[in-house]
Amino acid sequence: MLVPFILIFINIYITTTLASINPIIIKGKRFYDAVTNERFFIRGIDYQPGGSSEVNDEKDPLSDPDLCARDILLFQDLGINTVRIYSINPDLNHDKCMTLLATAGIYLILDVNSPLENQHLNRYEPWTTYNTIYLKHVFSVIDEFLQYNNTLGFFAGNEIVNDKRSAQYSPPYIKKLIGDMRRYIDVHSTRRIPVGYSAADDLKYRIPLSKYLECEDTARKDCSVDFYGVNSYQWCGQQTLESSGYDRLVEAYEKYSKPVIFSEFGCNKVLPRKFDEITALYSESMNDVFSGGLVYEFTQEPNNYGLAEVVNENDIQLLDDYFTLRDHYRPEASSSQEPSSKLDLHNKNSIAPEDVVIPKCQKTYHNIKVDGEVEENLADVLIREGTQHKKGKFVDLDEKDLECKFEIYRKDGKPWDGPRRIEAVNDMSPLKDTKAKSGKHGSRKKSSSFKMKPKKAMTSVFLIIVCILW
Ligand SMILES: *[C@@H]1O[C@H](CO)[C@@H](O)[C@H](O)[C@H]1NC(C)=O
Repeated sequence: MLVPFILIFINIYITTTLASINPIIIKGKRFYDAVTNERFFIRGIDYQPGGSSEVNDEKDPLSDPDLCARDILLFQDLGINTVRIYSINPDLNHDKCMTLLATAGIYLILDVNSPLENQHLNRYEPWTTYNTIYLKHVFSVIDEFLQYNNTLGFFAGNEIVNDKRSAQYSPPYIKKLIGDMRRYIDVHSTRRIPVGYSAADDLKYRIPLSKYLECEDTARKDCSVDFYGVNSYQWCGQQTLESSGYDRLVEAYEKYSKPVIFSEFGCNKVLPRKFDEITALYSESMNDVFSGGLVYEFTQEPNNYGLAEVVNENDIQLLDDYFTLRDHYRPEASSSQEPSSKLDLHNKNSIAPEDVVIPKCQKTYHNIKVDGEVEENLADVLIREGTQHKKGKFVDLDEKDLECKFEIYRKDGKPWDGPRRIEAVNDMSPLKDTKAKSGKHGSRKKSSSFKMKPKKAMTSVFLIIVCILW
């Protein structure tokens, strides 16, 4: 008698869990799924096809839905859950690409800067670039992305401090910018989207800067960074926790009160890359302190870190590193003989976030100078009134939007025999409730047909038949 009920419960469970993409939140020093409360580990890659100089008036990495579909189906095949993008143009439309990412279950960490004029801080003379034009750009990027549930966080900066001189001048500006961004989000977003910073691979500055960005002023509670990214290329070839220095990294961040991730990793001094550091990163030795990381980088560029190379304009060829990385992130998909570790992080969600104490700011920090004056109220008007920039939103997708329209090649030049379309793991139809209620949006009906609904319906029919037979 119990079985029909169990089946009905399973049915409800299936139909509800495929509904949407849950935001990621921070509790203490860890990321969590806001709805399931499961701990979230970033398994990701850095993504900026063509480099940041390819961002312009016409395009950026999330402006062309056909190219997004091509790459997102590969992200899924790789088994990643997050991409980091370094530069976008907030004036372009990102709705389709963000909906495709969400449909595939993939989150975005977005840097708010670009190499274009008025869109980044000058690391040596930050006072010349910290102005309202720059702030308007930063806040427009936030506006454009704050409504997407899969915007995991923003990076206020990448490697702004990277030498002695920048360490003299930049730190107070970075901290001020983080505070401005946090205040903007507090006023204009319904969700506290985390603001982070991504630090250069230089121990001299990386650790003192992390402490300075973490600290809280007595007067200002919102100037503390929400999470810290470490760019780390110290594990090259065959290494151990000790020989790579990862053990010292863990030590350095053990007491950090915020989540820490690798915002870039994957040394290419020894080729082909083996990505054994992934085993270390997600192991018990590290995963209490680090919340995962992002492999540098998806497309092949002149600096030779690519997993895949764009060929013939819009086709793509998968390189050796692609398959090696997949062996780590999705060992079950691999046919190679080499044994690789399985990432088993499922029992990690039981740890409650302990009460972490955010340290108070000190007057001085090693190797960096923090007493420079930054204009205090520059962002106030913009924060109060908003930028009036449009806000991106999820849109209805068509069956065709999930398909790859370009060729995907293996290393040997033969066509790849992998999937040709994105697998929908979330139903992102933004109108599904209104449609059911009012039918006002009837014209959109057709387009939402692909989204799990046939599968859900099949499951329901199957379960009902089982119930009746029982
Ligand atoms: C966004 O996340 C919230 C939960 O915090 C959820 O209620 C909502 O349905 C989600 N929206 C979409 C479009 O996924």
